[in-house]
Amino acid sequence: MKIHVGNLSEIPVGGQKTVRVGRQSVLIINDGGTLYALRNMCTHGSVALEGGPVCDGKITCLAHGATLELATGKATAPAFKAVRLYRVWLEGDEVWLEE
Ligand code: FES
Repeated sequence: MKIHVGNLSEIPVGGQKTVRVGRQSVLIINDGGTLYALRNMCTHGSVALEGGPVCDGKITCLAHGATLELATGKATAPAFKAVRLYRVWLEGDEVWLEE
C-alpha cells in the first residue's frame, strides 16, 4: 500500500523524520539527497534508531554502536539481523512510502 508520509521540505539533506506506518515506526533519512526508509528499531535491542548519526551510508545505533546500512539494511555487531527497509520515493515535493 502506498502512503503519503510528508513533504521533502520536512526532511532536508542530513535530516530525519519518524512516521507511523500501521503499528510500526519508520525512520526516513535524507542522506546526501537520497531518501531511505527503515524500521525505526535496532535489531540488537528494542531501541529506536532515530537521532543516530549517519555516515558513509550507515546509521549508528546510539545504544551500543551497531551500524545499519541504509541501502541494504545490513547490520554490524553487536546487531546481526538486517533491519527492514521500505521503498520510499518522491512525487514532486511529496514523500511516499510503500508498506
Ligand atoms: S540496541 Fe542498537 S546496538 Fe544495541
